[in-house]
Amino acid sequence: MATKPVIFVVGYGPGISEGVAELFASKGFKVGIASRTESKLSAASESLNAKGATVATAVIDVSSNPSVIYGLSKLTIALGAPNVLVFNVGSNGPPGTDLGPKPLEEITPEIFEKHWRISALGALHVARWSVDHLVPFDGKKTLIFTGGGLAKDPRPNHAGLAAAKAAMRNLSRVYYNVHKPNGLHVGLVTVRGFVTPESDKWSPKLIAEQYWKLYEEKDPESWTWEIDY
Ligand SMILES: NC(=O)c1ccc[n+]([C@@H]2O[C@H](COP(=O)([O-])OP(=O)(O)OC[C@H]3O[C@@H](n4cnc5c(N)ncnc54)[C@H](OP(=O)(O)O)[C@@H]3O)[C@@H](O)[C@H]2O)c1
Repeated sequence: MATKPVIFVVGYGPGISEGVAELFASKGFKVGIASRTESKLSAASESLNAKGATVATAVIDVSSNPSVIYGLSKLTIALGAPNVLVFNVGSNGPPGTDLGPKPLEEITPEIFEKHWRISALGALHVARWSVDHLVPFDGKKTLIFTGGGLAKDPRPNHAGLAAAKAAMRNLSRVYYNVHKPNGLHVGLVTVRGFVTPESDKWSPKLIAEQYWKLYEEKDPESWTWEIDY
């Protein structure tokens, strides 16, 4: 029996990540999903299982390097080494919370640092692990980051998130340049709109197709770094 490819999605919830996991599962991938909330992961795993997917879960907080290493190793033991990894975490929070939208003068150093630890340092933790552990399938290995429009067009009420997303975008470009010769395709899907299932552009289903497009680019000469969507 042919070996099935494996994708890990780090930063799992009901939005983009669910769309990506469902799409790759429908194409025959085994799926590892990770975020900080065990109960949400168990429910998501049951729902993916019910759709025929092979799934493993791990509790990970990407701002902690030991947590990333432990959780991604756990997924590898369960499913095998990944061929594709998606870093989907964003440090955006709901209004009224530390990480929610707020005027520039309320962005304290502590809040700014929190955004950076999740969206930027978290991306580095996961990218470093990925470089060491992704294995090729069908000739390539793939690491994809989820970006946001704020990285390019920052708005005053999202200064902390925008700066951290810009750092992550920059980091992903360096990873793309450095690892292209090593057969690792690093991509970035910059999502420019508000994600809802009803949107005729920014639904998780339609956004997930952008990740599949990057995965399907087999010839390094025509690899895309960023899809601005
Ligand atoms: N939603 C939008 O409108 C929108 C627009 C543009 C860009 N984006 C970007 O798209 C990505 C996905 O957004 P989404 O809203 O669709 O989310 P999603 O895929 O539904 O879920 C992302 C998950 O990441 C997890 N997470 C948060 N902090 C984490 C941490 N420190 N370590 C590990 N996991 C963590 C959260 O679960 P736990 O709380 O359980 O950990 C959350 O459910 C983000 O990078 C976001 O910035 C979103």
